[in-house]
Amino acid sequence: MKKLFAVLGYPIGHSMSPIMLNDVLSYYEIDAHYHPFKVSPEELETAFRGLKAIGISGFNVTIPHKSAIIPFLDGIDDLALSIGAVNTVVNDNGKLIGYNTDGYGFIKGLEPYISSFSDKKVLVIGAGGAARAIYFTMAKMKPLALDITNRTVIKAKELIEACPFESNSKALSLDEAEVQLNEYDVVIQTTMIGMYPNISETPISLKNLNTHALVCDIVYNPLETQFLKDARQKGATVQNGVEMFVYQGALAFEKWTGIFPDVKRMRENVLRQLEA
Ligand code: ATR
Repeated sequence: MKKLFAVLGYPIGHSMSPIMLNDVLSYYEIDAHYHPFKVSPEELETAFRGLKAIGISGFNVTIPHKSAIIPFLDGIDDLALSIGAVNTVVNDNGKLIGYNTDGYGFIKGLEPYISSFSDKKVLVIGAGGAARAIYFTMAKMKPLALDITNRTVIKAKELIEACPFESNSKALSLDEAEVQLNEYDVVIQTTMIGMYPNISETPISLKNLNTHALVCDIVYNPLETQFLKDARQKGATVQNGVEMFVYQGALAFEKWTGIFPDVKRMRENVLRQLEA
């Protein structure tokens, strides 16, 4: 019988996941369909129960449901529980189990550049939901330093305190981060600053950036934010948000099918969608 996969969000019209994941489902000749469902917060529980009742094989959860879905799940993986957000649900013999592939998706996207974090100093910019998934997962990689800078410093401190994995971390103001920026090997921009239409905005000045640094932005619209342009002009290696998006989808696909898909194919698919 044909399997059903889905993504639940509100809104959901702009999701690139259906085209990306239906393409790899058919590429691997898996008899399944991945469908976007627009589900309001009020209808989330009803939608969840309905999907469970029809025996859905798995689904993604996106904004604004990533935390709200947790009470309905039959089980949740430890990392997703500590992050407090689920983006992937797997049907395990009738039990719907939640995972978070955002953080590992981000880290897998860095594999071409970084094999071990043990000698790397990492700076995370931002302390919202995306920062939380990346910071908690990165803490498990045990980098030499893992600092957070945020406009509201107390939120960065709270994130560090909330993390169940030991890490060498401190919270910095944006000004402090700008001054000591040359210490960092990896800089990760996790806020929506610089996203269309506010494309000239950047979170911090990169005047003191180490030219050997790897600078990442989770934004992919535009593909190159002003922040990444600045980093590239300083000679740094840059990575945009397409990688995290592709890899979080690839890891979800692997959880559902046991196949780690062709990420090159997925990336090309996403770039085509962004260009359209
Ligand atoms: P998400 O869940 O998408 O990460 P969020 O939880 O609203 O979004 O977090 C947004 C992040 O972007 C926060 O780190 C926020 O900083 P504050 O904690 O100080 O609010 C940051 N942010 C948003 N707009 C900003 C701006 N104009 N300048 C600096 N930081 C900004």
